[in-house]
Amino acid sequence: MRITKGILLAGGSGSRLHPITLAASKQLLPVYDKPMVYYPLSALMLAGIRNILVISTPEDLPQFRRLLGSGERLGVTFAYAEQPRPDGIAQAFRIGAEWLASEPTALALGDNLIHADHLSELLRAAASRAEGATVFAYQVRDPERYGVVSFDPAGRALEIIEKPSAPRSNWAVTGLYFYDHKVSDRAERLAPSARGELEITDLNRIYLEEGTLHVERLSRGCAWLDAGTPDSLLQAATFVQTIQSRQGMLVGCPEEVAFRMGYIDARHLRTEARKFGKTELGRVLNELADVAGT
Ligand code: TTP
Repeated sequence: MRITKGILLAGGSGSRLHPITLAASKQLLPVYDKPMVYYPLSALMLAGIRNILVISTPEDLPQFRRLLGSGERLGVTFAYAEQPRPDGIAQAFRIGAEWLASEPTALALGDNLIHADHLSELLRAAASRAEGATVFAYQVRDPERYGVVSFDPAGRALEIIEKPSAPRSNWAVTGLYFYDHKVSDRAERLAPSARGELEITDLNRIYLEEGTLHVERLSRGCAWLDAGTPDSLLQAATFVQTIQSRQGMLVGCPEEVAFRMGYIDARHLRTEARKFGKTELGRVLNELADVAGT
């Protein structure tokens, strides 16, 4: 069954960005010329997902509604739900259980940015997998900050460990996941970890032990960034600026994705572009609509 639903998780405490995030949502901070949440949102939309549940804190959720609205302008549908406390990433499936109605789903973390050649194909393949779960692994210098997956000599995933003190590999699991219909049940049965969170790594381990966890290794040509620290926030912004100004292509722009995916037409895109005024983003979107010739 094709995955048509996706959860955009944008709560958490953002403590590594204090004091910035003491009074502002991390996922609404700018990454160069767009709010951070635009990047994972674009990834979900590129996967062909048009039905999206946005989860954030009770304080910040109204700002997400203000930014994203009903989704109509992007040809998608947004629903909203609160996470009262940051009790773990896997709690998203409990909060979203009713909305999910036991259907398969993707999950995107609101502070993750993936940029790759043929990203849409990669994501659509994951979204069309009928059984099991798909995660993406990326080689990093500091794996101890992430869920880490190690492989046997044949390249099969062997184990997956959250923030290991002695990582067995440098392959970090990125914040974009695809799950079959079993995910809600499985999340329901998870117990909190030693740090008191419902861990996404524990959920992934259930799929791994069942032999249905597909780990896609992202190649060197891909970029994966999480913007959760002052340094990575700045790096993410610089990355987007570099690609956009050098190649003239947009990174993580849901309006562009909506148009390219056929969710909105050129006339509609022009209306959206107008809202961006005289910005470079508005200019590029207008140009895109012009090239389409309507
Ligand atoms: P983290 O970066 O692990 O946590 P955080 O955002 O609370 O930040 P910090 O470690 O600096 O305190 O979370 C990854 C993503 O998942 C991020 O987008 C926030 C989101 N998240 C939630 O929405 N709810 C949660 O309970 C947790 C743990 C994370």
